[in-house]
Amino acid sequence: MELKKVLLIGGSGFVGSWIANRLSERGIRVTIPTRHRDNTKQLILLPTVYTVEADVHDPQALASLVHGVDAVINLVGILHDKDSSQPYGKRFAAAHVELPRKILAAMKQAGVRRLVHMSALKAASDAPSAYLRSKGDGEAMVCAAGGEFDITVFRPSVIFGPGDAFLNTFATLLRLFPILPLAGAAARFQPVYVGDVADAFAGCLGDHATFGQIYELCGPKVYTLRELVEYTASLIGRRPLVIKLPDTLARLQACMLGLLPNPPMSLDNLRSMQIDNTSNGHCNYPDWHPKRLEAVAPAYLSALSLQPRLDGYRCRARRS
Ligand SMILES: NC(=O)c1ccc[n+]([C@@H]2O[C@H](COP(=O)([O-])OP(=O)(O)OC[C@H]3O[C@@H](n4cnc5c(N)ncnc54)[C@H](OP(=O)(O)O)[C@@H]3O)[C@@H](O)[C@H]2O)c1
Repeated sequence: MELKKVLLIGGSGFVGSWIANRLSERGIRVTIPTRHRDNTKQLILLPTVYTVEADVHDPQALASLVHGVDAVINLVGILHDKDSSQPYGKRFAAAHVELPRKILAAMKQAGVRRLVHMSALKAASDAPSAYLRSKGDGEAMVCAAGGEFDITVFRPSVIFGPGDAFLNTFATLLRLFPILPLAGAAARFQPVYVGDVADAFAGCLGDHATFGQIYELCGPKVYTLRELVEYTASLIGRRPLVIKLPDTLARLQACMLGLLPNPPMSLDNLRSMQIDNTSNGHCNYPDWHPKRLEAVAPAYLSALSLQPRLDGYRCRARRS
């Protein structure tokens, strides 16, 4: 299946920028809708990538974006919704369930069959967190349309790499505080490298064997959150006191952090960590040889690497 044009919805973010890069390397024309063009500066230099300001929740805007493309990739996802309605709030519903439904409707109208959909590891309608429940319902809805479309779903564990919001957040906190009270310290993750995730998305697009499949994407090793924080600290040259918070204090901390405009943690995130974010050794994407965290993270987190130092200078000069 030859692909010339791809619509990459949610492509301006961390994972999307990597996928855009991979598709551009293959000479594929990529359109990335964004709510704010300023979010897409990192994509300007990619020769076959075009960004457009659009409201993807508007069916008419979506119809004109989908028109004439060979495939759609949907990456839109949010981590927080202050609305605590059950089973999840309006923002989660709009981003994770209603948007995929609208995307399928627009694809049907335009006669586009190929969709690659981003879910999340452990997403399920009975999961402990609203994020995972809404992701699970979105995934189930997309899979139910499998008869009419050629769909591939990916379910990654937490994703790391330059620009990630996971290890970089801990690195920032560790640079600021010598003591880190840690909620969910025993939670288990199987972090996966963003470059491997991007390869899987780009590689599966024209591969018929992946149609109708759901793939878990995980790295080669399982870590507790505490191990990840301590490893990050070692890379940035800090020796913090990491204190495992008991459940009640962890909930209190998550509640308070959840009130911040861009929270590093919320009560719902804490609920996600009640279940292991691991694949139990069963990652089923063909030819899957994921990079080790230790082979990648030092280059972008290490105290000696250039990026964190430049970020520090920008921050001090109030230019970040
Ligand atoms: N990062 C991880 O560790 C991880 C792990 C498992 C699964 N995932 C899933 O992977 C996907 C991408 O994650 P990421 O880390 O790349 O996220 P990200 O950096 O936050 O990017 C999210 C993208 O979605 C768009 N977006 C966000 N809210 C939107 C809304 N309400 N309406 C329309 N577009 C919206 C943003 O576009 P604009 O702001 O430009 O409009 C942006 O392009 C998400 O679905 C996430 O759930 C991520």
